[in-house]
Amino acid sequence: MKSLFGSILLSSILYSTATMAQPAIAADAVLEAKIEAQMAKMSLRDKLGQMVELDLRGIMTTDAKGNFIIDQHKLDSLLVNFRVGSFLNTPGPTGVPAAEWGGYIEQLQRASIKHLGIPTVFGVDENHGVTYTTDGTLMPQNINVGATFNRDIARRAAEVTAYETRACSVPWTYSPTMDLSRDARWPRCWENFGEDCLVNAEMGKAMTLGFQGSDPNHIGQKNVAVSLKHFLGYGAPVTGKDRTPSIISIQDLKEKHFAPYKACVEAGALTIMVNSGSVNYVPMHANKEILTGWLKEGLNWDGMLITDWADVNNLFGREKVAANKKDALELAVNAGIDMIMEPYDCSVVPLMEELVSEGRIPQSRIDDACRRILRLKYRLDLFDHPYQKLKDYPEFASAEHKAVSYQGALESIVLLKNEEVLPIAKGKKILVTGPNANSLRALNGGWSYTWQGNGADEILAKLAEDTANRKAKDGGPFIKPNTIYEALCKEYGADNVVLDNTISYKNDGAYYEENLVDASMSAVKQQAANADIIIACIGENSYTETPGNLTDLNLSENQRNLVKALASTGKPVVLILNEGRPRIISDIEPLAKAVVDVMLPSNCGGDALAALLSGKEDFSGKLPFSYPRTISAFNCYDYRVSEVVGTMEGSYDYSADVAFQWPFGYGKSYNTYYYSNLRCTPSEFTVDDVLTVSVDVRNAGEMNGKESVLLFSSDLVASQTPEIRRLRDFTKIDLKAGEQKTVTFSLPAKNLSFVNSQGNWVFEPGEFTLQIGDQVVKIKGK
Ligand code: BGC
Repeated sequence: MKSLFGSILLSSILYSTATMAQPAIAADAVLEAKIEAQMAKMSLRDKLGQMVELDLRGIMTTDAKGNFIIDQHKLDSLLVNFRVGSFLNTPGPTGVPAAEWGGYIEQLQRASIKHLGIPTVFGVDENHGVTYTTDGTLMPQNINVGATFNRDIARRAAEVTAYETRACSVPWTYSPTMDLSRDARWPRCWENFGEDCLVNAEMGKAMTLGFQGSDPNHIGQKNVAVSLKHFLGYGAPVTGKDRTPSIISIQDLKEKHFAPYKACVEAGALTIMVNSGSVNYVPMHANKEILTGWLKEGLNWDGMLITDWADVNNLFGREKVAANKKDALELAVNAGIDMIMEPYDCSVVPLMEELVSEGRIPQSRIDDACRRILRLKYRLDLFDHPYQKLKDYPEFASAEHKAVSYQGALESIVLLKNEEVLPIAKGKKILVTGPNANSLRALNGGWSYTWQGNGADEILAKLAEDTANRKAKDGGPFIKPNTIYEALCKEYGADNVVLDNTISYKNDGAYYEENLVDASMSAVKQQAANADIIIACIGENSYTETPGNLTDLNLSENQRNLVKALASTGKPVVLILNEGRPRIISDIEPLAKAVVDVMLPSNCGGDALAALLSGKEDFSGKLPFSYPRTISAFNCYDYRVSEVVGTMEGSYDYSADVAFQWPFGYGKSYNTYYYSNLRCTPSEFTVDDVLTVSVDVRNAGEMNGKESVLLFSSDLVASQTPEIRRLRDFTKIDLKAGEQKTVTFSLPAKNLSFVNSQGNWVFEPGEFTLQIGDQVVKIKGK
């Protein structure tokens, strides 16, 4: 069908309840029969109890030695009275070793099966590896996974995490996080794969398959169910602060924010967690059109929707769209919520009973929610395998698992500037300074052993001490990972590396609090005089969610003063940025000879950085976000063309500009990669064609390396102001020194369509350009 503008309406990928998609996951008749048999045995209260998720810490107590233990009486009474179907989180304030996890889950399962005849489903935020398992493997945070532009890394990281999660008897994770971070101030930018919807979709899909395996009806014993989060539009708060309103156009909401979820649902994702905040002033937990309409019905998805933390309460307490808890429950459950992450109170059970008996929530909605929860439990095979034995997981925390984390860190670290100071030759005297120089907490970021990531250094040091004398048959001693300073000592010899502590973080304070021991900076300047090169490790301490909010995106004044003092010595300064979001450094960047963004590479980040700085390895990370130059320009790379306009002639100047410090997709290496011969067939196409786009890439450097190849398109004229460019595909290739390869992408022409102001997907004929590296080719849609 053609519109007035020549648009072709693409009904096949148009959301509409009238044209239901194929089921996202084909139902398994055997499992469905078991669900129905179970449902037939359940009372209303049994069903409502399944819909409740409680925090494990609410049922913990301590024994005579001060160890955390489950209060069996409390557990039994919650199960008997409220029929609770799910638990989450850690037993105490920090994570615990794998050996302890199994005991807690076994106890929960025994009690659930005894009282309900139904196993519980336990969930943990395995946001970058096994977040809350102190002796397990942590992976680089997702922003780093995005920077690798390597889907295999995402998949392997998730596979390893699933294995180690299941080794702890935990079958379900609140991961992967796929919010598009569209505002650099947002404290959760680093929890997803960056600002682009395609990168989030592809990495999210790879992780979904890595976590769950390829048969969503039968999750294996080495796999776990995912919970994609936080659906939908969480990453674009107007204020930049966590859980504050997002205002998102229908075009962006449908075309960009929804796309990663759609891709993962189609890959079999079993559960989804809802955005705690509001979009266009409608709290997502009350948004029936999006939760039920777009997601459950639009994608024909039979999975389970869980609230985020206490978000039914937030509907009345914070969002004021309900007067009290009962009204809030009515809104949320009718909108499509299946499980309520309560997390400490079971009053929702009697309240929902009242709502059902008053006809305010239909029985059919409760049955639907309960069915979806049971379906998850059957798909996870929890009835037959409610917990696992750690001994059946010999690869837990293996060297191979650590190698996956190391490779992820290595491929994610981005070289942003190098005025011929890197690599640093052996024998050089190095001064290492800055608050991030000697901190595993800072390398890991939030969700690392604790929610905010605080205590990581102490927890890891203690574990190493506690296990120092352990024999190999008992897992051997736990080796504490290296900070940046420690890794540089290993690489260059401790005699050549000096650590300065002029600025450190106050580890018992807010994430932004710092100690400055010498405001004159005279001591560090003296140290610099004896060094050949200075490595300034700057950025942020760990945080997540609301405690990570900020009021100024500029890097802290202390840290900028430190860099200025270091540069005044005339010695070359290398900036290592260790931060969850791009803190503005435009005043100090010109003072540095090299800049490397490590973001949050986790426990192997120090070693990976040392290998890159010494030239043992080459850089191959690229920015999955736009690095802003000033606080008045937060554009993402896919801004609209009218955001950059040259100076006009005449008395009015309507010029506009976009000021990136470094653009999306930017990243240097020791090698030089040349692109040539970009071609596309057919060059004149219809919406049903698949375009074959090829380019030759040559490694003109002296090292074997890896290059991420990014394909962008631009729509030259459209019925709504087009974006300057959009990423359409990417791949990462190995290229030996001197080698040339041809990279070919298959690009369905319908991917060049967009969502218009009526919320419809349309393809508009006309001219487009395709771009890879510095190569551009024009093509024409008919
Ligand atoms: C976070 C979620 C997390 C949940 C459970 C919430 O505060 O927003 O990302 O999954 O807590 O820990």
